[in-house]
Amino acid sequence: MSEAPIGVFDSGVGGLSVLKEIRQLLPAESLLYVADCGHIPYGEKSPEFIRQRCAVIAEFLRSRGAKALVLACNTATVAGVADLRQHYPDWPIVGMEPAVKPAAAATRSGVVGVLATTGTLQSAKFAALLDRFASDVRVITQPCPGLVELIETGDLHSEALRALLRSYIEPLLAAGCDTIILGCTHYPFLKPLLSQMLPPAISLIDTGAAVARQLQRLLSERGLLADGPARETQFWTSAAPERLCKILPVLWNKSGSVQSFNR
Ligand code: DGL
Repeated sequence: MSEAPIGVFDSGVGGLSVLKEIRQLLPAESLLYVADCGHIPYGEKSPEFIRQRCAVIAEFLRSRGAKALVLACNTATVAGVADLRQHYPDWPIVGMEPAVKPAAAATRSGVVGVLATTGTLQSAKFAALLDRFASDVRVITQPCPGLVELIETGDLHSEALRALLRSYIEPLLAAGCDTIILGCTHYPFLKPLLSQMLPPAISLIDTGAAVARQLQRLLSERGLLADGPARETQFWTSAAPERLCKILPVLWNKSGSVQSFNR
């Protein structure tokens, strides 16, 4: 069983920012990645629609023998992780949440910004996270419609992207944020652009590395960690495979073969 693969998915290429952390921490694991690019953006879809997509993709990854599942998507986690855990009580499932706790601990100005999707920011799970960890700080939330679609093109320095991003970070800077949470797995790919656009004293926080460590913990507790030589990563997409093929060298730093996911 420890030789079985790990299933990872996102609405699109954003989860590759998490997959990279998993690959780096756990080189001996074989990884399966589903990019649901045909249904992007999850952030503007209903929770019911996202739950259905989670169920379909999880079932596919189980059918491929996945020993664990990672929802490399904040929006899918708030909508779907509870149902998945109920449906598969014995399957290790790791979800994501915006890094409110570390950001609240790190801020010196006492003002934290959150960039995330509309779906994540409107969820009860996010409200509970704020109640639990952010009672002593001011939190400015900024939904970012349109950002994910621009990141999906693979052009991380376009004028359109810069202009839209500027409109989303300006309110955070005006409010005095010194710490900004990247609460969507697509956004870590904006770090190079953000570092040009933000004053150097602003910290950016995301949870990709923490999710990889959590996955490692869960697998280790169950005796499911693989060892041996580095293993492969396989990709599927619900949009045209050529599109993901073209973007992989940019966001994953390597090319890879991509299969079609038609469910
Ligand atoms: N990458 C996803 C997240 O972490 C959402 C992107 C989308 O809106 O599809 O929230």
